[in-house]
Amino acid sequence: MIELKNLSKTFNVNGKDVKAVDAVSLTVNEGEICVFLGPSGCGKSTTLKMINRLITPTSGQVFINGEDTTGLDEVTLRRHIGYVIQQIGLFPNMTIEENITVVPRLLGWDKQKCHDRARELMHMIKLEPKQYLQRYPRELSGGQQQRIGVIRALAAEAPVLLMDEPFGAVDPINREMIQNEFFEMQRALNKTVIMVSHDIDEAIKLGDKIAIFRAGKLLQLDHPDTLLAHPVDDFVSNFVGQDSTLKRLLLVRAEDAADNAPSLSPETPVSEALELLDEHDRRYAVVTDAANKALGYVRRRDMHRQQGTCGAFLRPFNATAAHDEHLRILLSRMYEFNRAWLPVLDAEQVFLGEVTQESIAAYLSSGRSRGAKTSIVSPAEAVTS
Ligand SMILES: Nc1ncnc2c1ncn2[C@@H]1O[C@H](COP(=O)(O)OP(=O)(O)O)[C@@H](O)[C@H]1O
Ligand SMILES: [Mg+2]
Repeated sequence: MIELKNLSKTFNVNGKDVKAVDAVSLTVNEGEICVFLGPSGCGKSTTLKMINRLITPTSGQVFINGEDTTGLDEVTLRRHIGYVIQQIGLFPNMTIEENITVVPRLLGWDKQKCHDRARELMHMIKLEPKQYLQRYPRELSGGQQQRIGVIRALAAEAPVLLMDEPFGAVDPINREMIQNEFFEMQRALNKTVIMVSHDIDEAIKLGDKIAIFRAGKLLQLDHPDTLLAHPVDDFVSNFVGQDSTLKRLLLVRAEDAADNAPSLSPETPVSEALELLDEHDRRYAVVTDAANKALGYVRRRDMHRQQGTCGAFLRPFNATAAHDEHLRILLSRMYEFNRAWLPVLDAEQVFLGEVTQESIAAYLSSGRSRGAKTSIVSPAEAVTS
């Protein structure tokens, strides 16, 4: 866990004081990714660098796992913190293996342990150690160098990772891949991460929390969906963009936007099924077995003036929604199959409800959002907490 308390930095530029960071307080829990987001010059990098003390704070404290780091010497501090800098920053005169093992070697790991660790990390990013470890950075593509920059920060097994625009320098296609790869690694290794970005889409994709900065101040700290649904002011609202509701499609899951819907069993008589459909003013209903697993659906049109039971009129689903899929995928699927609704199923095929165009619109306009309640961060609040 990382906790910043009233962290401030004033630079003296040509005799004039410039407040680069102004009383920033926030907490990032273990295993979370917090993205610092804001326009250029708003203090993101300065805040990050105060955490591993590449920049000495003017005032305020940094706690890691509850321990005030003010008294720690810098070597001990950086042993706990991996760091990925803005311009990748591989040493050009060192091989990839030497680059990856810079910190472990500083920490006194023996040769074999360093080598094993380098090989293990290379496997993680799917670069063949034999082929790449003895090369120099210039002999790798930009995307490959970026990956090395990320695993170098993981090499010493630090529980905390600071990343300053780590994916900024790569082309969009590689960036997408590296982001995904990084996200999987982070989840598997349960690292606590603070990442600086100026890209709202990256922040939405990777962040458990987003911290919006402006002119050295932290304006809002929230789950991405809460940030998009409830920006605290016009600045945040403009920053997240006019299409914030569409951006939310990536964050809201099927189970959030699902409506309860009545279901039928294969043994339900047609007359009874038609009655139920009339009662609910519906043209179809999902059919489930005794364990509530979805078997398919029946349409009013097919059963009209017919006899027997629902089982005889059962149609298979040609498209379904997994409970944890996000709305962007679901809408895409609904358009692809020209469906107005999808049944939402859990991993065991149990029927949880339906997503429809209406249920999606209702959720997005309801004021509800994923994540915690909106937190407006005022300096006054920060001082008293
Ligand atoms: N070493 C420095 N000396 C003087 N001013 C600095 C220094 N580093 C950063 N600044 C100033 O502090 C402010 C915040 O910078 P920075 O944290 O790098 O912004 P960001 O990373 O959000 O783009 C800017 O106005 C910048 O010019
Ligand atoms: Mg910066």
